[in-house]
Amino acid sequence: MAKSIEHPSLMEPMLPAQGNRELEDLAVVMIEKSARMAAQLHPLVQVRIGQLVRTMNCYYSNLIEGHNTNPRDIELALKADFSNNPEKRDLQLEAKAHIEVQMLLDQKQNLTDTFSQANIKLVHKEFYARLPESLCWVKNPDTDDTIAIVPGEFRAGDVMVGRHVPPKAANIVAFLERFEQAYNFASLSRIEQIITVAAAHHRLLWIHPFYDGNGRVTRLISHLALRQAGVGNNLWSISRGLARNAQLYKANLDLADGQREGDLDGRGNLSQKQLANFCVFFLQTAIDQIDFMQKLLDTPNLMQRIEYYAHSQIQAKKLPKGSVIVLKEALLHGLVERNSIQNLTGYADRQSRNIVSSLVKAGLLGSDTPYGSLYLCFPQEIVEFYFPQLYPVV
Ligand SMILES: Nc1ncnc2c1ncn2[C@@H]1O[C@H](COP(=O)(O)OP(=O)(O)OP(=O)(O)O)[C@@H](O)[C@H]1O
Ligand SMILES: [Mg+2]
Repeated sequence: MAKSIEHPSLMEPMLPAQGNRELEDLAVVMIEKSARMAAQLHPLVQVRIGQLVRTMNCYYSNLIEGHNTNPRDIELALKADFSNNPEKRDLQLEAKAHIEVQMLLDQKQNLTDTFSQANIKLVHKEFYARLPESLCWVKNPDTDDTIAIVPGEFRAGDVMVGRHVPPKAANIVAFLERFEQAYNFASLSRIEQIITVAAAHHRLLWIHPFYDGNGRVTRLISHLALRQAGVGNNLWSISRGLARNAQLYKANLDLADGQREGDLDGRGNLSQKQLANFCVFFLQTAIDQIDFMQKLLDTPNLMQRIEYYAHSQIQAKKLPKGSVIVLKEALLHGLVERNSIQNLTGYADRQSRNIVSSLVKAGLLGSDTPYGSLYLCFPQEIVEFYFPQLYPVV
């Protein structure tokens, strides 16, 4: 019989034992690698790639929930082009909602209240307020009744997650108060903050404050918390790693739900060893993702792939000669002025204008106004060429 959980002390320990060398080393590696990654791209290119990574994050986080929305359909949703098939359309709306909420979080300046109840509710509210009606219901497995999900409201009844029985609805607030207090960054070192992000990921899912959406809300909170800890940015996403190891992710969550395993396993109700194991899994997954994106975004390599793609398009007569150098310039400098194209390509005025209009038409360059500066764009068609393995080819 699962023990009934009534007091926040039953959620202890909140962190792995202090001085865990393996975790500390992983946190240091994350600090080093994430610093290197942010430094390598022009900030304007970073903004554009950030948009693509948000789409990827949403794709993978929804995939963990079993909602598989093709990235091309996500891109169409962002252009308000929805399918006639109601199920597909609702998944498109869900993807759009997820991206919009992440955008709000990525723009958030005040990063002190990530783990507060108010912020956790806000993320759920922003997400569910944008979802179509069909995705705002869950079934009570005992009675078969449907329960409506109110955006930003904690569940009013009990739930189970796998074998785990989360706190009773009446105690959610007390558990979240302890959660917020234990994970207050102000009283933690930088290394402790990073380990905290991992531990908080498990403990929030363990509390399971909502009827639905806990997974996605928790992954968005982790994304924000990683930024607060100074290792997260819009160029990588923890969800990609969690989705690619979904079975291991869930198995590790399940193990960390377990009770203390004897005298050498901390002093709390839950296993400190298993919490530490979950944190190792989470931080290793994060480092894997940083490594993957670092390699993908390495400027000489990215430049080569862009060049290769543009050459193939020129050969296929889909782009005019002279296109490659313009794309390269946009990658290196963020913006290309239209009046510099002649100089850059060596082609006369008419051909230069043809290069620009072809690149804009192909979606490879964009500008905010008809005569404005040009910047690189990353439409879904090129993702598999520019960023191989970012997500499965569909
Ligand atoms: N044993 C477990 N202990 C704690 N959390 C778990 C466990 N197994 C799965 N989870 C987490 O719960 C999420 C899914 O569980 P569930 O479907 O009950 O929640 P949800 O609210 O529907 O989440 P979402 O819809 O956003 O994925 C998973 O995404 C995972 O993050
Ligand atoms: Mg769900």
